[in-house]
Amino acid sequence: MVVALAVGSTALAQTAVEKGMKVYTEQKCSLCHSIAGKGNVKGSLDGVATKLKEAEIREWIVDPKGMTTKMKAERKPAMKAYPNLAKEDVDALVAYMMTLKK
Ligand code: HEC
Repeated sequence: MVVALAVGSTALAQTAVEKGMKVYTEQKCSLCHSIAGKGNVKGSLDGVATKLKEAEIREWIVDPKGMTTKMKAERKPAMKAYPNLAKEDVDALVAYMMTLKK
């Protein structure tokens, strides 16, 4: 039972990451960001999970304007907001970003 539970939650996490990759592509995050050298290299997200906490990554996605001010980010164009992203899409994106460790 314990084993089955552990396997089950790993599979779930995997699905969220895969969904996150899809959302990342669909939302064209790569116009301003790159992962593993693909996309806009000025905004590399490689190792972002080492640099930021999960809550901060989520904050960037749900409140980019607030985070731009808070983190004094100067790169232009500034990150745009995604008010139409479903909560599960945000969760999936965050799950994906959390795999980007250095
Ligand atoms: C119009 C350009 C643009 C788009 C599109 C964009 N971003 Fe950003 N994003 C930025 C800028 C500018 C920053 C500030 C940090 C920097 O200079 O890279 C940032 C910061 C971030 C950070 C924090 C990175 C760090 O190193 O501190 C994350 C995470 C992030 N964006 C995720 C996303 C995701 C996920 C998407 C797609 C849903 C997205 N961004 C779309 C411009 C953009």
